[in-house]
Amino acid sequence: RVLAGRREDLAGRHVVVSAGGTREAIDPVRFIGNRSSGLQGYALARTAVARGAEVTLVAANVTLPDPAGAKVVRVESARQLRDAVLAAAEHADAVVMAAAVADFRPVRQSDTKIKKSSAEPDPIHLVKNPDILAELGEVRRARLEAYAAGAAAAGGGRETGEGLAAAKEAGADGPRPRVIVGFAAETDDVLANGRAKLERKGCDLLVVNQVGENLAFGTPDNAAVVLTAEGGSVEIPRGPKEDLADVVWDLVAQRLA
Ligand code: CTP
Ligand code: CA
Repeated sequence: RVLAGRREDLAGRHVVVSAGGTREAIDPVRFIGNRSSGLQGYALARTAVARGAEVTLVAANVTLPDPAGAKVVRVESARQLRDAVLAAAEHADAVVMAAAVADFRPVRQSDTKIKKSSAEPDPIHLVKNPDILAELGEVRRARLEAYAAGAAAAGGGRETGEGLAAAKEAGADGPRPRVIVGFAAETDDVLANGRAKLERKGCDLLVVNQVGENLAFGTPDNAAVVLTAEGGSVEIPRGPKEDLADVVWDLVAQRLA
């Protein structure tokens, strides 16, 4: 399926893909989870390997076989996913957050299995998880500012060690990750919600999935609209998750070129 012109267009690039759905422990045997299968993230990892990229796949509770040629890091919770993604993103050209990250986790995890008693159960109190996609955008923005400040200081003849370090870290191509891609599943006001989400999270591309009609969760097919930070949109008709993945990598490759 990979077109001739695409074959090696990600050669020399390091990309990070998150896949699956996080689990937030209630006690040693129970968790709060979601319906993400990991199929879309795994399709993204496979197609990136096929196009020549070095791929780190951060997989949350996925039962699919490891894609050949990708480095797979297995995690369970949102906080573990965050640590793995941020570490891999340090040297990444692109990060694609296809994982379904739990927005909340129980405040406390019981060390022992919660038992029934004659009384009604205690409520489960929740706290917010870190927003990994937003954090990636913030890390990059901070690096860009440090780089600009360093460059300005250097330009003014006050070359600081800090400025040099920032410039070195940013590299010739700008701060990493150079391209940040989010996914979103919306049910109403799909495009308006997607646009607001892209801006809120500071990502470059947001893949807005259509939910329902046997699409998305656990199915081989997907349909989506990709919104770009510049205000554009690219429609991806219903088709295999591999095809959607290839369109995402086309857009990423364009931005990296
Ligand atoms: N995401 C993330 N960290 C979170 C929640 C979401 O990195 N704690 C990422 C997802 O991987 C996805 C994107 O953000 O790429 C959008 O997720 P979504 O759940 O649609 O966005 P939220 O900001 O959580 O908004 P909502 O209230 O609609 O769930
Ligand atoms: Ca969410």
